[in-house]
Amino acid sequence: MTSPRTPFAVGANPRDYGLPDERELAAWLAARYSAATPPPQAALANTADAVYRPAVLPRNHLRGVSSTQDFATPTPLPPAPQTTALPLVGAVSVAQIRADFPILAEQVEGKPLVWLDNAATTQRPRQVIERLVQYYEHENSNVHRAAHTLAARSTDAYEAAREKIARFLGVPAKDNIVFVRGTTEGINLVAQAFVKPRLQPGDEIILTQLEHHANIVPWQLISAATGAVLKVAPVDASGQILLAEYTRLFTKNTRFAAFTHVSNALGTITPIAELIAIAHRFGVPTLVDGAQSVAHTPLNLTALDADFFVFSGHKIFGPTGIGAVYGKKELLDAAEPWQGGGNMIADVTFARTLYHDAPAKFEAGTGNIADAVGLGAALDYVSQLGLANIARYEHGLLEYGTRELTKIPGLTLIGTAREKASVLSFVLAGHSTEEVGQHLSRAGIAVRAGHHCAQPILRHFGVEATVRPSLAFYNLPEEIEALARAVRELAGKR
Ligand SMILES: Cc1ncc(COP(=O)(O)O)c(C=O)c1O
Repeated sequence: MTSPRTPFAVGANPRDYGLPDERELAAWLAARYSAATPPPQAALANTADAVYRPAVLPRNHLRGVSSTQDFATPTPLPPAPQTTALPLVGAVSVAQIRADFPILAEQVEGKPLVWLDNAATTQRPRQVIERLVQYYEHENSNVHRAAHTLAARSTDAYEAAREKIARFLGVPAKDNIVFVRGTTEGINLVAQAFVKPRLQPGDEIILTQLEHHANIVPWQLISAATGAVLKVAPVDASGQILLAEYTRLFTKNTRFAAFTHVSNALGTITPIAELIAIAHRFGVPTLVDGAQSVAHTPLNLTALDADFFVFSGHKIFGPTGIGAVYGKKELLDAAEPWQGGGNMIADVTFARTLYHDAPAKFEAGTGNIADAVGLGAALDYVSQLGLANIARYEHGLLEYGTRELTKIPGLTLIGTAREKASVLSFVLAGHSTEEVGQHLSRAGIAVRAGHHCAQPILRHFGVEATVRPSLAFYNLPEEIEALARAVRELAGKR
């Protein structure tokens, strides 16, 4: 019997995983590309990796990019554990940053709060809290629909926030940005409005084993409604997506691919440039779930040629209940409205309705105006620190945390990919994850213990739950030490 930990090694028999074998794939590629491109027989001769060789694939979606080398894999950040008294994020001291976050001064269980539950939600700086107060005290009105002064103020603030999101993500215009409640709603929007109307029975949607339930269930819903099927790209033993196996999943029936940028359960940073480029070579549009990457890695969606990207405000120091979908203009134009109501219409009669263009087409009813404005303030805050500085600092903390935790007897890290962000998932022999979580809570340390809404990937690694400390730029090396101390103390009890 196969152990649940067995990796999907490149070179394993693809039929074992319900994938086409070399011969089937070669035949299909030859049939598909013979008109435009020579059949990739030579390249396909031996290994699945050969399929990934860019030269054998059509260029129609590459827009002048000729090989995967042109898509730089994320530059590995230099290990920079900062265990000095004054760690810095760029030029700003972490002590100064922490002073912006009132909740970090909280005492819990008689101890200073150590907030290591950032993958679940981040804390808000004073600048965001004050922006919400300012909005409600001086600007509050419904948007877009009135001639009075406060309507102008609130509309300006709301649309300025949209503009900030566009700039933050590196995309052409604010009209590419649709406000939603968060990542979950964003994925449902793309599934219902863009993908579902294009599906026929037997069509295929590609996901990966790493996905959060929010990037699984919406696709199951539209598959059940249309007769489409889901195919899942496997990961290796470290928790990184196997690109060759992912490539192998594409067929003439593939209509869409959706994948996370950072796994919330393992911390793996996936190679989204390659995942997008491969999908485009097969003419397939993609969605990137940016819930866990948006606060931790610099992004430029235009450079990535991303089709759709979704994120939640509360994962990036902004309010809950607000998030955004980025979509390429032509894809948003091609998508159908998914909710009907006010704000999204140009004209209504009982016989028919004319819709606004995107983004209004997807924003029926009154939106979460104040929290959108608050999200804009959060992006200002993060931009001032600089995502590259944040990523560098957090990488140092992550390395330090990995080193300290893996010294603890009985502790096993779940997720050991070379490229990781923020997350240190682990299990401790002889202790349930709940027990570890409660023990840490008594020490004032907040971590998540459970399945993290990502049951398939945890089960792949043979566990039902992990303890998941997750880092942000306001965390300190001392907090890592407190975590390691408390876990070691528990480990020593048995
Ligand atoms: C990778 C990932 N995707 C999607 C979500 C869902 O985000 P939200 O609950 O903000 O909609 C989360 C939340 O933890 C996540 O980590």
